[in-house]
Amino acid sequence: MSKKVFVVIGAIIFISLCITMRPAQSAEDYGALIKNSCVSCHGLKKICGEVGKADNKEWEEIITRMAKKAAKKNIVLTNEQQTGMVTYLSSPKDAKTLCTD
Ligand code: HEC
Repeated sequence: MSKKVFVVIGAIIFISLCITMRPAQSAEDYGALIKNSCVSCHGLKKICGEVGKADNKEWEEIITRMAKKAAKKNIVLTNEQQTGMVTYLSSPKDAKTLCTD
C-alpha cells in the first residue's frame, strides 16, 4: 500500500473520532453558564454548598425553582441547559472545577 492510502485512512479515522467525541456542550461550558446565569442573586458559595449534598433529584428541583426566579430577571435557561446544569451539579467531580476557582 502506498503512503498516501495510510494518510487518507488516518484522516478518516481522525475525523470520525472528532465527530463521535464531540459533546453537545461540555462540562466546562456548564460551569461557565452557571457562573453567568446563577450568581446575580447569590454567590457561587450558595450553589457550591449543595454540591455533593443534593442528589440528582434535589438538583432538578433546585434548578427548576432557580430557573423560574432567573426568568423574572430575564435570564432565560432552556430545558436542555437546565438538564445539563442538573447533571453537572450532581457530579461533584465536574462541579469541583466551578467551586475551586
Ligand atoms: C433571581 C435570583 C436568583 C437567581 C438568578 C438564582 N437564584 Fe439560587 N437562590 C435565590 C434565592 C432567593 C435563594 C434562597 C432560597 C429561596 O428563596 O428559594 C436561592 C437559593 C439557592 C440555593 C440553595 C438551596 C436551596 O434549595 O435553596 C442553590 C443551590 C441555588 N440557589 C442555586 C442556583 C443556581 C444553580 C442558579 C442558576 C440556575 C440560581 N440559583 C439562580 C435566588 C436566585
